[in-house]
Amino acid sequence: MLFLMLCATQLMGQAVSVVNLRTELLVNPVGIDVTLPRLSWELKSSARGVEQTAYQVLVASTPEKLSGNEGDLWSSGRVSSDVSVHVRYQGTALKSNERAYWKVKVWTSRGESAWSSPANFSIGLLNYVDWKGRWIGVDKPFPWDSETQWSRLSARYLRKEFEAKKAVKRATAYIIGLGMYELYLNGEKVGDQVLAPAPTDYFKGVKYNAFDVTSMLKPGKNAIGTVLGNGRYYTMRQDYKPYKIKNFGHPKMLFNLLVEYADGSKDVVVSDDSWKLTGNGPIRSNNEYDGEEYDATKEMPGWNKTGFDDKDWQKASFVQEPGGTYEAQMNENMKVMATLKPVSIKKLKANTYIMDMGQNFAGWIRMRVKGAKGDTVKLRFGENLQASGELYVRNLRDARSTDTYIVKGGAQESWEPSFIYHGFRFVEITGFPGTPTLNDFDGRVVYDEIKTTGEFVTSNLTINQVYKNAWWGVLSNYKGMPVDCPQRNERQPWLGDRTTGSYGESFMFDNSRIYAKWLDDIHQSQKEDGSIPDVAPAFWRYYGDNVTWPATYITVAEMLYRQYGDLESVREHYDHMKKWMDYMAGKYTQDGLITKDKYGDWCVPPESKELIHSRDPKRQTDGVLLASATYIRLSFIMEEFARLLGKPEDAGDFSSRASAIKAAFNQKFFDASKGQYSNNTITANLLPLVYDIVPEGAKENVVRSIADKIMVENKGHIGTGVIGTQWLMRGLSRNGRSDIAYKLASNRDYPSWGYMVENGATTIWELWNGNTADPAMNSGNHVMLLGDLVIWYYENLGGIKSDPSAPGFKKIIMKPEVIEGLNSAKASYQSVHGMIRSDWKRSGKSFNWNITVPSNTKALVYIPAAAAGKVKEGKKSASSAEGVKFVGMEGDRAVFEVGSGDYSFSSGK
Ligand code: BGC
Repeated sequence: MLFLMLCATQLMGQAVSVVNLRTELLVNPVGIDVTLPRLSWELKSSARGVEQTAYQVLVASTPEKLSGNEGDLWSSGRVSSDVSVHVRYQGTALKSNERAYWKVKVWTSRGESAWSSPANFSIGLLNYVDWKGRWIGVDKPFPWDSETQWSRLSARYLRKEFEAKKAVKRATAYIIGLGMYELYLNGEKVGDQVLAPAPTDYFKGVKYNAFDVTSMLKPGKNAIGTVLGNGRYYTMRQDYKPYKIKNFGHPKMLFNLLVEYADGSKDVVVSDDSWKLTGNGPIRSNNEYDGEEYDATKEMPGWNKTGFDDKDWQKASFVQEPGGTYEAQMNENMKVMATLKPVSIKKLKANTYIMDMGQNFAGWIRMRVKGAKGDTVKLRFGENLQASGELYVRNLRDARSTDTYIVKGGAQESWEPSFIYHGFRFVEITGFPGTPTLNDFDGRVVYDEIKTTGEFVTSNLTINQVYKNAWWGVLSNYKGMPVDCPQRNERQPWLGDRTTGSYGESFMFDNSRIYAKWLDDIHQSQKEDGSIPDVAPAFWRYYGDNVTWPATYITVAEMLYRQYGDLESVREHYDHMKKWMDYMAGKYTQDGLITKDKYGDWCVPPESKELIHSRDPKRQTDGVLLASATYIRLSFIMEEFARLLGKPEDAGDFSSRASAIKAAFNQKFFDASKGQYSNNTITANLLPLVYDIVPEGAKENVVRSIADKIMVENKGHIGTGVIGTQWLMRGLSRNGRSDIAYKLASNRDYPSWGYMVENGATTIWELWNGNTADPAMNSGNHVMLLGDLVIWYYENLGGIKSDPSAPGFKKIIMKPEVIEGLNSAKASYQSVHGMIRSDWKRSGKSFNWNITVPSNTKALVYIPAAAAGKVKEGKKSASSAEGVKFVGMEGDRAVFEVGSGDYSFSSGK
């Protein structure tokens, strides 16, 4: 585990300073955490045209050495380079549990910076032998537990006292607590993470978390307490589908506390059978889908402090290790990221209230209650209400989504659950002593601790609300892995939901770590023969050999490269991706096409509002077309990956695969006389268009077919499902039909994103007809139908796009669309190189545009203007402004290259 410190310094009087130091560790695919940190930083300056020309990194073993400019671990020397992200550590080999301190200075076109403030990181336990002690737990249920479809398994409490024999210099706690853990030292919770660690296929690999607990230790006696919840480890709840759903066993943990004393000696406190354990504590049941039951009358005051009498507790048992590797968790843990106040509580009938949180989200309720011992409050969660005002839970399937709290009595009690979450907007409250008021409840919004990186607002209110809903939807479904939905009995990491979504999400959130972790999950789920499932980790075992869902393995790696400039995932996974590509082609090629498809263009708007899936063949797209077009696209990406990795032979091979399938594809599906593919669905025409399959000269006709379908047959409405929607908005814009894209984005009637808003959605629905469809599949908080909408918002409306030739926004293409009806857009994006801003307004013929280009990057800006001479920057002609260079005219745009800095362009007056 890495301790990360973000430092921001703006040094007075310095033209350029270095800020936001970031450290990433690489996990070596063969070992357990052979680590090579990579270092990133940002340059900050108010000057224009700042370019880094060289850097120097110092890495030291103590803060003192670092401040004395002694890089005893690594001193890079002055390296001539403009690279400021993902710089590989090249110093002395780092050892287990070692801590390092680093700083950087840069030389730039505008002078030299001072040294940055220091940042630090720690190395995890690199080898199995570094882990002392054993796995402990108890491998059976307690007498009060029950193992059924709605299993009730109480949380396991473990405790141990130990002696800090001397003055402590440093103490680090390492824990693998499965399925989930809470860790306490001397009664204090360690860390603010919740629902940790991140879920994995525990048979293949488990994540450990590490904490610096130096300040929590006391001289003399200390007490460690842990609580183990079920999470995805113990999934007996779904034992009715043992052939499909994996169960890993009962909760267990491995724990090491490494203590370094001031005199240089060391101690380690480990998990072993000297620990005591009980299941007879207050958490009587905890189950991700059904909720948590907490009996406060069974609290054990002081159980996690020294001196507690644990004579009624049993000895912890040694249990089998889960198998697989121990991996430092490099993605963020979940945390309570926000707290909401409810907007209303209404009485439904005697003893039953309905509370509205005003927002659909994932997390839980914190409750304050004062009552008599044994009073039982039940909170039941749902996304919606029925017409009667009662909670609507039919779309949760068999998830009970209910928390129960038994009051201990006396003073006011405050409670929130530990090991579960719900997806909800409404809460049914029963059994509350007295009348519940708004002040008694808080909504706790829980997702991975990742930063919101983007802001986006336009003159169009529908677009603004859909964007907000998307933001809520995406964060709700980050759960240490991206899941499909947070509410019903599913919550699975379906690959196909994120094929393109992950890219749009990357503008809103720094999702680099969760997705890098997810690629590891996908890799771990790959079968020996190359097959990749549709869900990974494969908690649900869906090895159906589909193309469109597993495609995500490749497109997410592409996203990490394009958006974060990070080639590491590509490097790490390339061979496995290739194995899958080979496997699919080897097994499913027929007449030159790839034939395997499972889901079709999932969730197209159906012909009747009650249906989940359309039965109308005119709305459905041929599976062979979907599989083959996707395979062509993936071959192009693999070709690029191969080039980037210096594998020209592979690149050539992928390129010829793509060409061969293309030829067969056009022969089979293309009707040149009509300019249509297959049965002329939007998706059937769109994929060949955006994947560069359409023969030269025929594009216009295919675009026309799409336009006719949308504007004439669908009367200006969307007709695509999960696959087509991934390219719809960009496909239209790239082909000169931004007017249609804008129409689709602004619609408020069925089917459209605006229709969801119009019907009260505060997130994005699973189905276009999510308010009327069969409850068997109508989650109110799915993100897959966003398709490429968020990408289009940022790249096409905001005008912020990373140049494919210089990924990670090292070079930025700023080209906002000018669309009739849209008068302004304001977007910002915190890229790995720094903050990018674009804020434009249009009225009549005049266009005003303020932009910020981060230091050490460049941008190509496309300004609507009849000629360069019509463009001003500030009060000057743009061509003569500092940092601005006219490149040429491109259609109705004057194109300038600009260096970093703030600019204010105007044209047209
Ligand atoms: C999930 C989807 C998933 C789909 C594929 C649904 O139940 O919620 O998000 O992609 O199944 O079959």
